[in-house]
Amino acid sequence: MGYRYIGAKKKISDRILEEVSRVTPPNGTVVDLMCGTGAISVELRKRGYRVIACDVMLQACLLTKAKLFLQIPPRFERVKKYLSESKQQFLGDESGYLQMIYTLNNLEGIKGFFWREFSSDGKPQNGFEPRKYFTGENAQKIDAIRAFIKEAKMNGDLTDIEHSLLIHDLILASNDVANIAGTYGHYLSKFVQRARVPLKLTPTNFEKGGKLDGHDVKHGHAEELAKDIKADTCYIDPPYIKRQYAANYHLLETIAKEDEPSAIGKSGLRPWRDEYSDFCSKIKIRGAFTKIITEMDCKHFLISYSSDGLLTKEQLMSFFKSFGDISVKEFKHKRFKSRNEKAEEHVTEYLFHLFTG
Ligand SMILES: C[S@@+](CC[C@H](N)C(=O)[O-])C[C@H]1O[C@@H](n2cnc3c(N)ncnc32)[C@H](O)[C@@H]1O
Repeated sequence: MGYRYIGAKKKISDRILEEVSRVTPPNGTVVDLMCGTGAISVELRKRGYRVIACDVMLQACLLTKAKLFLQIPPRFERVKKYLSESKQQFLGDESGYLQMIYTLNNLEGIKGFFWREFSSDGKPQNGFEPRKYFTGENAQKIDAIRAFIKEAKMNGDLTDIEHSLLIHDLILASNDVANIAGTYGHYLSKFVQRARVPLKLTPTNFEKGGKLDGHDVKHGHAEELAKDIKADTCYIDPPYIKRQYAANYHLLETIAKEDEPSAIGKSGLRPWRDEYSDFCSKIKIRGAFTKIITEMDCKHFLISYSSDGLLTKEQLMSFFKSFGDISVKEFKHKRFKSRNEKAEEHVTEYLFHLFTG
């Protein structure tokens, strides 16, 4: 399963990149302002652009870093002293990455924070019933892997990109066995088969193409970051419904932040208000767009939106018109659906082009 993310654009990345290349000079700088899984950032890199990726969620920034900054595995030089098996078994793995993954997959489980708060065997601190996001065994594995990564990072034995890659791999492995319908907003009352399978990290396949240097990944609200960004083109893929990403992916954010926040209510949400998105509010969305469009040093904005969104195509057209020339392309896109959700299979995906020059 790997990436499970509302609004991920991997499947329509060609259409988006086609538009980017139409308005951007070769080797130009392109911002992926709400990068999510990093699917668009990596395609931009592969086509020779310099990429500035941003997201308000740390998990999205770390996923994107791992994709954007790597074409081959990092060396894991300093951490090798901890790795378990004899080198013989990993001949040919010059980087130490496979040995690293093997070591993490074979750690002894720990009854830690994830086990207590998010597994069927746990006992949430706030007295709520055990939360069945993971089996007890899988939550113990997550706790053990978290502890290993955190300690190695603290001891200075992981570089920044090695650390991002391991968090990336742990997030993907957790997605594979999470007992959820689509997002982490709720867990399912009964374990589905997929969730009973033992958690296992799998080595990432790195995407080749483009240069690795010169890119940047920034963590924060796009509205605040915009004033410090200069680019040829800015691609914006905002949330388009009321559902806040921070509330729906809280567990992944806890993996990325490596902390033990209070787990609130039945679902065990982490406090997430600092990652609240104005794009999920019909009242605030225009103000948020205005700040980005007027404060960023950029003339071409490409904006993805959906026919399912809070604002209609007509409302967006008339709003964007106040900043410059606006046009829109439309295409069908397969809907992200939770299990059991009754909805049409396809939505219309809009790609607006705003030229403010
Ligand atoms: C539709 S998803 C992007 C998906 C991405 N294009 C992909 O292909 O994976 C929207 C993203 O916007 C981020 N986000 C929401 N509000 C934001 C804000 N104000 N500033 C920065 N990022 C924001 C969310 O965390 C989420 O990752």
